[in-house]
Amino acid sequence: MKKLNNRYLTIQEKIRFHDHEYYILDSPSISDHEYDELFRELQQIESEHPDWVTSASPSQRVGIKPANDFSTFKHFTQMLSLANAFNEEDLKNFHDRILKNLGDSQHIDYFCEPKMDGAAISLIYENGILTRGVTRGDGTLGEDITSNIRTIRSIPLRLKESEHSFPDLLEVRGEVFISKSDFDDLNFKATQNGEKVFANPRNAAAGSLRQLDPAITSTRPLAFFAHGIGSCHGKEFLDLQEIFEVFSSWGLPVNKLNQLASSIDECHRYYQNIESTRDAIPFEIDGVVFKVNKISIQQQLGEIARSPRWAIAHKFPAEEVLTEIVNIDFQVGRTGILTPVAKLKTVNVGGVNVTNCTLHNIDELTRLDPRPGDGAIIKRAGDVIPKMVKVIPKKKNRSSSVKTPKKCPKCNADIVFNYQSEWRIVDSNTSKTIKRFSSHYEAKKFQDENQTSKYNISEEHLETPFISCTGGNNCPEIFQSKFTHFVSRKAMDIDGLGQEILFTLINQKFIKDFSDIYSLADHRSELEQLERFGKKSVENLIQSIEKSASVELHRLVYALGIEEVGETTSRNLANHFGAMNHLLKSSFEDLTEVPDIGPRVATKIIDYFDDIENITSLQKLLVCLNIINPNLKTSSKDMKFSGLQIAITGKISLMSREEIKNLLITKGAKVTSSISKKTAYLIAGENAGSKLDKAKTLGVKIVDAVDINNFLNDPQKF
Ligand code: IVH
Repeated sequence: MKKLNNRYLTIQEKIRFHDHEYYILDSPSISDHEYDELFRELQQIESEHPDWVTSASPSQRVGIKPANDFSTFKHFTQMLSLANAFNEEDLKNFHDRILKNLGDSQHIDYFCEPKMDGAAISLIYENGILTRGVTRGDGTLGEDITSNIRTIRSIPLRLKESEHSFPDLLEVRGEVFISKSDFDDLNFKATQNGEKVFANPRNAAAGSLRQLDPAITSTRPLAFFAHGIGSCHGKEFLDLQEIFEVFSSWGLPVNKLNQLASSIDECHRYYQNIESTRDAIPFEIDGVVFKVNKISIQQQLGEIARSPRWAIAHKFPAEEVLTEIVNIDFQVGRTGILTPVAKLKTVNVGGVNVTNCTLHNIDELTRLDPRPGDGAIIKRAGDVIPKMVKVIPKKKNRSSSVKTPKKCPKCNADIVFNYQSEWRIVDSNTSKTIKRFSSHYEAKKFQDENQTSKYNISEEHLETPFISCTGGNNCPEIFQSKFTHFVSRKAMDIDGLGQEILFTLINQKFIKDFSDIYSLADHRSELEQLERFGKKSVENLIQSIEKSASVELHRLVYALGIEEVGETTSRNLANHFGAMNHLLKSSFEDLTEVPDIGPRVATKIIDYFDDIENITSLQKLLVCLNIINPNLKTSSKDMKFSGLQIAITGKISLMSREEIKNLLITKGAKVTSSISKKTAYLIAGENAGSKLDKAKTLGVKIVDAVDINNFLNDPQKF
């Protein structure tokens, strides 16, 4: 009997050891099968000796029956919240306040931690045994969710023995969260089972903790990081650094990204560093937290308004923000299509001021039904264009729905109603649109690059209704849009012709046709007379125009603004025909031989060159230009990257990303925006984030951006 009891205790220890390796250190040393064997043996012994079982046994994580409700629990020490800083100045003020409060010029070390976007909890350990887990509640009273907390495998039911003795009573404060990939899996499973998906990992974590049935909580991939102490009886700590070291020795999970900083400037650098790598961090964070490291100084500083004076959260700019809709406008594009655009009360979303938000088409306008005076939630993540996620109708005196115009709001010409082809890549499980494309080719390309075994994405062809102005060049907005496109960076790239100058020159009739841009040099003295035009600015403008006159064929094709002819199609046309004259003479059959060009696009091209106005304008323009590299394809010797798929990420200082992309394409490469198993190389610059991680996981060859020139000359060496 004694011998068996020993075996029972040994197995418990072994399971705890392997749980720690698996859930905290992320490095299991035994197989799942061996672990299951141990667990089965434990359960076998417990079924034979139910009187031996204590709540600290690893088998007792889920064992309690569903509760009817949670009982309240008064925290031994209040759970405070954090004051916020939104910029470097706020941070400096925080530091100055501390120095002022202390009354002498002490040196302050700060402990820096990511601010986890999860649910705050408090764990009570009595002599090393977990006796309670409590939600934050209102900071004073929380809900006793012990049985749910016990199901979280990274939370030790019993602290690991180490050289540090256990306090009699310890309140561990921390955050329960779900990693980004576990969250995706959770929602993926939810859709497969026809259940509701969670809005974000924080909601999923908080919701899972408040399940009345712990068996449900146990199926949720909850994780935990400790970030502080409430009460502690029977042990003294000097600073936070020591607390976290001791926590780790007891098997409590501590964030590896935590770091000690010896000045407030260093804190700011920590913020910048974490923010720039945010996408690659496997869990959601909404900022960083700085805490005075020394406990005695923390005690001296105390708290104010339920926040400690010794800590502050430096929040990242919000990515989803509520603002007010001022108006709905219709913008007229270069092809005459009217796009509804919401004019907003300016709001900062993810660090960028947003005043306009496109509503894409009239379908979207009808679906969201935004009206002047309504609230709107605007979302913007990373460098993605702002999106209206939701409209919050104004409670009183709501304006009526925005009507589709019958006449062009800019030139009063008739409006025609039509359908535009749109391809969407859709997650087949959630039916959510991942990305929209205006060509089938682009959509297919994206699908090929992103199809993974985990997600099943499919392509959807839609005929989206659109309205367009029939005014042609007589509509001032169509005219302006055509020129805005013509001079834009990916087209003729005329640096000095910003929208304001361009529109002035159009309004003053200096520019009536594309070719007029290239004769502006003959009007120097007249230009100098214009408001805000000096000798110097006119000279700069003329120089940038002259520079743009040497242009690659594909840029010129793109600049013409032919309907449905985007950047990729322009390159394909330029590569295929090699010279503008050949393209001009091409037949419908010739055009459909070009990759990516189907009958729709071929018709648009034929229509464009059938229009006498377009041809006359183009002939005049060609006289002014020097088309470079108009040869047919690059010689096969130079096609070093033929058939290779290459991705680029991070900051690159030697060359612009656009230049690298163009060089690679002319040498036969396919440059993609994302990484897949098909990617041959990833060119990684500074601060390369998640793409670099993904490339490493997939075994993609990585080229350091500093070696870009060698790589372009001789990819074989990499
Ligand atoms: S310290 C007295 N550290 O942010 C200081 N809080 O308002 C108490 N949070 O709900 C919190 N990550 O749960 C601290 N590394 C971190 C944190 C963190 C997330 C949460 C916390 C609370 C809120 C603060």
